[in-house]
Amino acid sequence: MSTATSPETSAAAQRALETRYGTPWSAPLPAWNETLDSLLAHRSVRNYADKPLPAGTLETLIAAAQSASTSSNLQTWSVVAIENPERKARLATLAANQSQIREAPLFLVWLADLNRLEAAAGRTGASAEGLHYLETLLVGVIDAALAAQNAVVALESLGMSAVYIGAIRNQPEQVAAELGLPPRVLPVFGLCVGYADESHPAQIKPRLPQPVVLHREQYDAPSQEDGIAQYDEVIGEFQTAQGQSAAGWTSRSLARWRSRESLHGRDRLRDALNALGFELR
Ligand SMILES: Cc1cc2nc3c(=O)[nH]c(=O)nc-3n(C[C@H](O)[C@H](O)[C@H](O)COP(=O)(O)O)c2cc1C
Repeated sequence: MSTATSPETSAAAQRALETRYGTPWSAPLPAWNETLDSLLAHRSVRNYADKPLPAGTLETLIAAAQSASTSSNLQTWSVVAIENPERKARLATLAANQSQIREAPLFLVWLADLNRLEAAAGRTGASAEGLHYLETLLVGVIDAALAAQNAVVALESLGMSAVYIGAIRNQPEQVAAELGLPPRVLPVFGLCVGYADESHPAQIKPRLPQPVVLHREQYDAPSQEDGIAQYDEVIGEFQTAQGQSAAGWTSRSLARWRSRESLHGRDRLRDALNALGFELR
């Protein structure tokens, strides 16, 4: 993998950064490589070709996922791989009826898994009081997210595509039943995996300007407003070009927080967690 910045590489890097932000890029480019190319080219894909994944893909992706850092090497995550069309269809129904779950050849449900160590405690007679604290669930959720994103980086580097499915938390108890999960295992999100249907190409979605998310030395709240206003315009233009509403990021994002109902069932997540055996002390 090259880190040299030839004029061609620099020009391609500049284009990649400008596409990512939808604005000109002015910072110097110290180095560039294929990993950055792949990361900057990420886009969620919701239309999949009817094309199977090569043999060994799942195992390779999971090896990449397991290569992620994990809190204290506890490895408090698991993943269920679903290829059965009927099961994918049932999970799609539970996750806001999202058709990409049916379409993708592989659907992965990433789990915060506190059961594995609890079972080990049971076998050895050790106390596992720490299991019941919110912090421990957070460790599992973070571990699952880091593992999943490693898998996404890996599959995109291999020319495949994915989209996360947070709606798997709309009805967590039903998902747990469908997947035969033991207690204290939470479906954190799903992930559709497949080859993109190139007749419906997905575009790279611009992100917030860096000064909005990057704070130097201390958090700088006042400088956010201008950057967000600029982004509202950039994303509005992007969506218009996609044939979607020109609503800005601010209004679209706030609509997700407008009311309890806008959480689509996830407002009762605490109850669902309790039902799945998490005490959340
Ligand atoms: C945890 C998580 C959950 C998500 N859930 C969904 C979902 O249920 N359905 C969906 O179509 N996209 C979902 N997405 C995809 C986001 O909408 C997408 O990443 C975001 O709009 C940025 O677009 P991009 O990934 O194409 O850059 C989810 C993303 C994440 C990280």
